Amino acid sequence: MSRKFFIGGNWKMNGDVAFVKSHVNFINDTEIPANTGILDLDAVGIPAPHLAPAEVVIAPPYIYLDSVRKHLKKEVGVSAQNSYTKSSGAYTGEISPEQLKDLGIEWVILGHSERREIFKESDEVSAGTLSTLLLCPPPSLSLFFAHQTTQFNPHFLHPPPQFVGEKVAHALATGVKVIACVGEKLEEREANLTEEVVFRQLRAIADRIKDWTHVVIAYEPVWAIGTGKVATPTQAQQVHIALRDWLRNNVSAHVADHTRIIYGALPPYIDVHLTILEPPSISFVQGLSTARTAGTFVTSEGDIDGFLVGGACLKPEFSDIVRTKA
Ligand code: G3H
Repeated sequence: MSRKFFIGGNWKMNGDVAFVKSHVNFINDTEIPANTGILDLDAVGIPAPHLAPAEVVIAPPYIYLDSVRKHLKKEVGVSAQNSYTKSSGAYTGEISPEQLKDLGIEWVILGHSERREIFKESDEVSAGTLSTLLLCPPPSLSLFFAHQTTQFNPHFLHPPPQFVGEKVAHALATGVKVIACVGEKLEEREANLTEEVVFRQLRAIADRIKDWTHVVIAYEPVWAIGTGKVATPTQAQQVHIALRDWLRNNVSAHVADHTRIIYGALPPYIDVHLTILEPPSISFVQGLSTARTAGTFVTSEGDIDGFLVGGACLKPEFSDIVRTKA
């Protein structure tokens, strides 16, 4: 089964005008042949088990999308980091997929763990609808709701959550491709709820879309981001297989076989050299490289179709991750 390898670079809320200019030049100078090669594993010291065409997409902050799209070579895609469920209107601070399309932006990341955690985006439309109603009830119902809501609605005192499934459906309907993120938190993994959580997140999307051609699923174990805990390639592969099986059982065999499932919490590879001296032994760290970790994930596991890279995509080593063989 051939699935085009996918490498996304999520800048998150990083960069400025000077960085945009230098980084776009840097990526433009990185050779990405259109029809051969993927991650140059040899370049990072790991034998390549297979080579296939790669797709590279970068996701700068909103305000730089237009400039990046205008100056970046066309073979590299550009993604937003979020979009809203509506086409236009009184939604201060939001951006619609229609506006992304207007700028020539091909992709959007939706449901990223930082959106879910920090900005309380949820899977389910029902919680948001209820919450919105509770925040803005008709005047005659205000006192009644004020009394009732805190009893059963945890979102009452927060901004209305936004709905990942609805966002995905709206972006796809507009013609913007989607990197849809799923992943469990530490307490959920420790309670053996990983599959329950990622299946629920996937269900919220599957219930609202029919065509998966333009969807990439990014599995991002939240517990492996900034916690000092590291997911092994085997742990990642287990969840990727479970997600693929879920697609097979709940959508179709075709969607399961063709949908790319990429991994989004790559730790840096710690390159430790141990020198034995007589007497004592001395060890030292030579360097950190996310590109080398990427290699270990690809070489050992077959269901990992690429990566959503965060911090490392802002560094020169991003070229090691995306660089292809001529
Ligand atoms: O979107 C990317 C993921 O959140 C991973 O970010 O590579 O900085 O840990 P990171």
